[in-house]
Amino acid sequence: MKRLMPINGSDDRTQLTAGREVLADYGQDEAMNRRKALERGHSDTRVFGGGKTFFHPENSRLSASLLRRLLKLTGMLDRGRRNAMDIAVRENLVTLPRLPKSFDGFTVLQISDLHLDSRPDFAPCLAEVVAPLEYDLCVLTGDYRFHTQGDVRPALMGLSLLREALNGDVYAVLGNHDSSDMIPDMLTMGYELLYNASVPIQRDGQKIYLVGVDDPHFFQTDDLEKALTAVPEGITRMLLAHSPEIYRVAESADVDFMVCGHTHGGQIALPGGKVLYKNARCPSRLASGNWQYGSLKGYTSVGAGSSLLDVRFNCQPEVVLHRLHCP
Ligand SMILES: [Fe+2]
Repeated sequence: MKRLMPINGSDDRTQLTAGREVLADYGQDEAMNRRKALERGHSDTRVFGGGKTFFHPENSRLSASLLRRLLKLTGMLDRGRRNAMDIAVRENLVTLPRLPKSFDGFTVLQISDLHLDSRPDFAPCLAEVVAPLEYDLCVLTGDYRFHTQGDVRPALMGLSLLREALNGDVYAVLGNHDSSDMIPDMLTMGYELLYNASVPIQRDGQKIYLVGVDDPHFFQTDDLEKALTAVPEGITRMLLAHSPEIYRVAESADVDFMVCGHTHGGQIALPGGKVLYKNARCPSRLASGNWQYGSLKGYTSVGAGSSLLDVRFNCQPEVVLHRLHCP
């Protein structure tokens, strides 16, 4: 499969380069300053309030403990943990009306909600699943850490292992479980961070734009207007965001295709896949899989990992190969 690189040495790289400079100097970026201030208060005790939803189960160690006990008592804990390691590779065919002809068949691997330090053998398991896959570009849509606070090193070790298994360019945005302290190490490992920034992707003289925003759910430091600053009108825009909650803003900003995660598809669902709690302020139909809102096409991944507790029921974890097509 043809390996693509962004345009090197072009002025179009300015936006990404500027993003890096901003990250090297947090004091100059208003969104980053807000994020860092919130990170300092993002503790286990913040179960209610803040963010786009009122209840934040991911911040509650008590909820995790009660769920673990319940599953153990009912003999379902081991099965749930096995389910969480059974990662599916899904294909999603998406037709984009203004996709350049040279991008017909362009394949983007999306990995979302990795929560790499959920258990010691999870990152090796995920790396083994993605290593043989073929794609043109890889994107990560946030949540690399299991908890929402605490030591970032176990998640970074998982990211390092994963990077070895991924080919070519990998673009990432941050989720609500992540810390901005992870950014320098992620850049060193070879992840390109789209912190309210964009990058052009070129193929045979034609190009599309990949755009990324910071976490729209808890930190709400997403700035799509800023991210689109260097993106010309009329060119295909693919947006990376941790959560689907900015679907209205994305549609009005003329985004063609948005990929996101955060909901975990409920993670623990009823037989048949009915979501019990989507943890996002959006219509239920946007909580997993393909969706459309006006002219915006979207895909919400149920995620590769798990949070709160490393279990899944009736909601198989996934990585997704998005195959873009012309009409
Ligand atoms: Fe997550």
